[in-house]
Amino acid sequence: ITGDAEAGERVFRKCRACHMVGEDAQNRVGPVLNGVIGRNVASVEDFAYSDTLATMGEEGKTWTPEEMAAFLEKPRDYAEGTKMAFAGLRKEEDRADVIAYLATFGTE
Ligand code: HEM
Repeated sequence: ITGDAEAGERVFRKCRACHMVGEDAQNRVGPVLNGVIGRNVASVEDFAYSDTLATMGEEGKTWTPEEMAAFLEKPRDYAEGTKMAFAGLRKEEDRADVIAYLATFGTE
C-alpha cells in the first residue's frame, strides 16, 4: 500500500475528534496512534478496548497496512462490536494516504 503522507494529514482531520498522534499525544475517545502500524492490535496500555479488538490482539493480529486498510474501510464490518464509532473511509486513496501519514509517527 503506497500513499501520500501529506494528503493523509488532511484525511486524518476526520480522526482527530477521537485520536491524537505526535509528541504529548494522549488517549482520548480512541487510543494514541503513534507507532500503530505493524503493532499488535489493541496494545496501548491504559486504553479500555472493546472485547472485539482485545480478542483480536490476544489472537496475535497486527496492524499491517493491509489489515489497517480493511479496518478503516468499514470498521464495524471488519471488527463487529468495535467501539470505534466511525463509518469508514470509502475511498481507497484516502485509506492509503492516512496509513502513510500514521507511518510517519513510527512503525514497529
Ligand atoms: C481504534 C484509527 C477515527 C474512535 C482505532 C484503531 C485504529 C484507529 C488504528 C486501533 C488502535 C489499536 O489497536 O491500538 C482511526 C483512523 C481514523 C479513526 C485512522 C480516521 C480515519 C475514529 C473516530 C473515532 C474513533 C472518528 C470516534 C468517533 C476509536 C475508538 C477505538 C479506535 C473508540 C477503540 C476501538 C475498540 O476498542 O473497539 N482507531 N480511527 N476513531 N478508534 Fe479510531
